[in-house]
Amino acid sequence: MKLSIVILAAGQGKRMYSKTPKVLHKIGGKPILQHVIETAVKLNPNRLIIIGGHGYEEVKTTIDNTFTNNSFKWVFQDKQLGTGHALMQALPYLDNDGCTLVLYGDVPLINLTTLQQMIAKYEDNLVMLTSVLDNPSGYGRVVRDDKYKISKVVEEKDATLAEKLIREVNTGFYILANKFLPEWLSKISNNNQQSEYYLTDVIAFSYSHGVLVDYVESSNVFEALGINNKIQLEQLERVYQLYLADKLLESGATLADKSRVDIRGDVTVGQDCYIDVNCILEGNVVLGNNVVLGAGSILKNVIISDGVNIKPYSIIEDAVIGEHCQVGPFSRIRPGTRLNSNVHIGNFVEVKNSTIAHASKVNHLTYIGDAEIGSSVNIGAGSVTCNYDGKNKSKTVIGNGVFIGSGTMMVAPVHIKDGGVIGAGSTITKDTPENELTVARAKQVTVTGWVKRNKS
Ligand code: UD1
Ligand code: CA
Repeated sequence: MKLSIVILAAGQGKRMYSKTPKVLHKIGGKPILQHVIETAVKLNPNRLIIIGGHGYEEVKTTIDNTFTNNSFKWVFQDKQLGTGHALMQALPYLDNDGCTLVLYGDVPLINLTTLQQMIAKYEDNLVMLTSVLDNPSGYGRVVRDDKYKISKVVEEKDATLAEKLIREVNTGFYILANKFLPEWLSKISNNNQQSEYYLTDVIAFSYSHGVLVDYVESSNVFEALGINNKIQLEQLERVYQLYLADKLLESGATLADKSRVDIRGDVTVGQDCYIDVNCILEGNVVLGNNVVLGAGSILKNVIISDGVNIKPYSIIEDAVIGEHCQVGPFSRIRPGTRLNSNVHIGNFVEVKNSTIAHASKVNHLTYIGDAEIGSSVNIGAGSVTCNYDGKNKSKTVIGNGVFIGSGTMMVAPVHIKDGGVIGAGSTITKDTPENELTVARAKQVTVTGWVKRNKS
């Protein structure tokens, strides 16, 4: 069967009170529309058409940057005259036969299996997805005849008091036979409270033509919820987060509190990981086996190897952390950092664009930037790689087995060779030799009588 999918995504989303087009607001760190497209793509449609309008270029660019080399057909709906008008814009690009699945770009959590159930029910008729809500307000209501057949959908603003009591609502997902579309879409009028061309009118047309309106009732309330304002955005975000947390639990992670972890991307976990409260995981996060994430850790695009202990309130981005490292509490690991195994990074240490080899320690109050540090190095508290002269960034190389005394300034470019020891408080501006002690600081003097003389 030839399946086309049309995603309606042209609306402004006035009730969001935002300059960002509605479908680009995010759930779980991904634009709402991206969720819908990801699900749609899994159905392998013959063609996927997206109706854009409000913020067209911004929406298209965002989606094209995410789905590289896609073959989506974008259609511009200049004026957003309603969902029926929106689907009409897709008509020139649809086949004469086969069917079209309509998805709404502002309903992000639709399940793949639900859409597959709808497709399974389709037999040249109309199949719609309904949902029974405790609070149906704002949704189109599903009206049935005395034989319990669906006869039409009435929008809340056009509904009678009796119709408003109906709790079965239209989710905005339909499968329609292409052969009926040209006629039905041309017959839609805007004679209603909102003066819009309602796509939902096709349900009444189908009924009056004796074409069965079949339905699938959504088994999961959340998949049918649309986002029209910030309250709904926040509600669905929480629902989605609980769903993602459950997936982590199912794959064997231990969570201190599943309602206090936020996942904004794709996370994979090894065995026996423990995630404490208030962690935020963004982008692609890979956790090996036996990883511990301390409270309040924020990880973005990172690979954390087996046995790593991230202590509370550490921030790690675009980095690879080797096996059995310890990071934190309060460490900041910035992009381009590679820690080999058994490295310790302690509190108030910032590491940027640096590699640190096996078993080296940077435990307190230190900045390491653009550095290459060997194995079994110890960097004393309060040391700084001075990598920036105001114009250029330069590199610091520290050999294996080096001991850097506390409070050392290493003015890059500089090379501290293997086995060297640097006396505390040194400012190192030249390369230092292997296996020797180098001290670079003013000699301490005591000025006898100075205090007495200066007392008034
Ligand atoms: C629509 C349905 C309603 C259903 C609800 C489910 C109609 C008339 N009503 O109402 O029965 O219960 O969804 O969430 O269809 N859009 C366009 N172009 C337009 C108008 C809308 O692309 O000219 C897009 C919007 O961007 C949005 C989707 O269509 O993604 C739905 O439009 P919206 O205005 O939000 O419809 P609702 O009032 O929610
Ligand atoms: Ca809506």
